Amino acid sequence: MDRWQGKIAVVTGASAGIGAAICKKFVEEGINVVGFARRKEKVEELSKSINGKDGAILHALKVDITVEDDVVAAFKYTAEKFGPISILVNNAGIIQNTTLYDGDTNCWRKVFDTNVLGLCIATREAINIMRRHNVDGHIIHINSVSGHRVPPIPCTNVYSASKFAVTSLAQTLSNELKALGSRIKVTSISPGYVETEIVKVNGFLQNETITKLEKSAPRMYPVDIANAAAYVIRTPPHVQVSELILQPLGEPV
Ligand SMILES: NC(=O)c1ccc[n+]([C@@H]2O[C@H](COP(=O)([O-])OP(=O)(O)OC[C@H]3O[C@@H](n4cnc5c(N)ncnc54)[C@H](OP(=O)(O)O)[C@@H]3O)[C@@H](O)[C@H]2O)c1
Repeated sequence: MDRWQGKIAVVTGASAGIGAAICKKFVEEGINVVGFARRKEKVEELSKSINGKDGAILHALKVDITVEDDVVAAFKYTAEKFGPISILVNNAGIIQNTTLYDGDTNCWRKVFDTNVLGLCIATREAINIMRRHNVDGHIIHINSVSGHRVPPIPCTNVYSASKFAVTSLAQTLSNELKALGSRIKVTSISPGYVETEIVKVNGFLQNETITKLEKSAPRMYPVDIANAAAYVIRTPPHVQVSELILQPLGEPV
């Protein structure tokens, strides 16, 4: 972990769930984190509760990952104010409570804008900064087991398709970086069910089937994914964890 001490990581979706836990873990490991989210105040609140190693701090930036100008400006500001970015965790992600058979196009669009295009734009901006400053950095996509197989759960509509896209994007990015001779690493972390706000927003728990499934489902907690993120960045420079699937014990594979 020593080589990341005092360096800058950007975590998107830093205000809740998995993103917030990754921010906390990285700062406790001595990495300075810039946390992007629309609810900047939640990131600021989190920042006050973290005891950073060697003075490491969590900074909050208000960013809507679906607004390209916001994202580009946030990366520019981060690099100018805090220095080159060494780690990017593409964590911001949503699921919408609708269907494919009579779904709302706007809901589908929001999922792709957030889970796919937002991730691509953030990745491009971070890699441009890493390459400009010769940083052998690390890009982590928070994917999902739904990026590898379609879960038999109602109302997931385009979510699984967006995460299959993330699986493909991680592999394509890895190939592109290899062709450039870059030593920037790419890791896709694919969790099974993690207890967070994700199903609590967008009226999901009004759906009786989902409420029942949620109550009985084996689960992990955000800290479990934060520990996995800390593990993948700790690997030596010649080792890349390309894909890491984590499931709660008892979840169907
Ligand atoms: N929970 C699970 O079971 C599970 C399983 C597998 C994978 N995942 C993936 O893990 C990631 C995090 O999910 P979570 O469960 O931690 O969800 P969560 O508790 O709902 O948190 C989602 C985070 O994403 C941010 N976000 C959403 N839309 C955004 C936007 N337009 N711009 C900026 N930030 C945005 C939210 O911040 P603001 O609202 O403040 O902007 C929030 O910080 C997602 O990619 C999700 O697909 C979750």
